[in-house]
Amino acid sequence: MVVFTLVNSFVNAAGGHLIKSKHRSRSGQQYIVNQRHSRRQVAVNELSIGMFVAELDIPWEESPFLFQGFLLESQEDIQVVQDSCEYVYIDVVEEEWVADHGHAPAAAPRSRTRYVEKQDMAQQLSQANRTYQAAKKQVKQLLASAQMGQALDSQQAQEVVKDCVDRVMGNPNAMLWLTRLKGQDEYTAEHSVNVCLLAISLGRLLDLAPYELENLGMCGLMHDLGKMKVPPEILNKPGPLEPEEFREMARHTVYGKQLLMSRADIYPGAIDVAYSHHERLDGKGYPRGIDSHKISRFTRIVTIVDAYDAMTSDRCYKPGMSSVEALRIINRNLGTQFDADIARTFISMIGLYPPGYLLEMTNGEVGIILSSNPGFQLKPKVIMILDAAKEPQPERILNLAYSPVDDFGQPYQPQNVYRSGCFGINVGDYVHRGLRIKGFEYSLSEPEQA
Ligand SMILES: [Fe+2]
Repeated sequence: MVVFTLVNSFVNAAGGHLIKSKHRSRSGQQYIVNQRHSRRQVAVNELSIGMFVAELDIPWEESPFLFQGFLLESQEDIQVVQDSCEYVYIDVVEEEWVADHGHAPAAAPRSRTRYVEKQDMAQQLSQANRTYQAAKKQVKQLLASAQMGQALDSQQAQEVVKDCVDRVMGNPNAMLWLTRLKGQDEYTAEHSVNVCLLAISLGRLLDLAPYELENLGMCGLMHDLGKMKVPPEILNKPGPLEPEEFREMARHTVYGKQLLMSRADIYPGAIDVAYSHHERLDGKGYPRGIDSHKISRFTRIVTIVDAYDAMTSDRCYKPGMSSVEALRIINRNLGTQFDADIARTFISMIGLYPPGYLLEMTNGEVGIILSSNPGFQLKPKVIMILDAAKEPQPERILNLAYSPVDDFGQPYQPQNVYRSGCFGINVGDYVHRGLRIKGFEYSLSEPEQA
């Protein structure tokens, strides 16, 4: 019988994580095992199946990989890494086995290095989701305070936004996934968090510094705070607004400005964004109809992501449109409603095949899009869910970058993108269920403890 007893675990001076444990072999021999978990740079021609790639030598968004950190499971995986990078960092465990003879001198230790075989995508989504839920909780408190005329706790909001920035910097795709899992309830809270996250993600691509991303995130989080001063019967009206109702709704910008101005410690840019995020470059926006040169860069960013998230969200009176439709509308209004350069960056960030959306192939099969990265946008990675008759089929990963063919030898080709909910597929259900597919594990539940 083999016994493994954890004796001690600490971070060693070299930065690697050191774990001491006791091990007894079948023959009864006792060992002390020192395990050092560390990260090592490896040239891509030295990669082998089973290695866990933790970092690349290029930014993740320029790679064809959806998640930061993945296990090399096949020669194909290795090939993709070799095509994209020169070297990568892999997680390794170095083990030193020392015979435990009590006080007697120990024999020479036996050493070995093994690669960490782990899947931490589930953990990454789980962490991303914790941040998302914390942000949502914080926004709900802010909205409730605004509604009841109480003081706003901007300090806590700032901490949540800082966490959002860290997560977006660490794994932008995991955070973007979460903005797609829209619920119909709690629209204003989820919309505020989504605008915060989308603005941070976009700001990151616009090369803003981390402190600027935090300020921008605050602007996104607070942009619609004034809606809490709009009477609920207008805010939640299931149908088009009458002219007077629209005028009241439009006042949420003024209410937002007033609410935020009552705080001395609020980032001043957030006041401007709350006041101006419905202005347009052609001067036809509201509430003031100001000229484009008076519209700040942060306002331009929030205006675009706000419009996108609003258009793609289900409301009680109308279902949201697909991502592609929303991007088309943004594209049609470049220079008049939206800043052209910023909007183009946004369109390339979301991509034609955004993760979390459904993709119908020309042969009728349907899957959930897993990846869309710059440079690989036209060939996403998909989990196939439904067959040509829209009946469930065994789930499997299809990477269009490898030009796969169907049972009839025809190449898989994307036809249409649909929102979650079409074909009876709720993407959120799959993610919450902890979808398990060879090579991928998606789960928003707590990761299992080893
Ligand atoms: Fe708004």
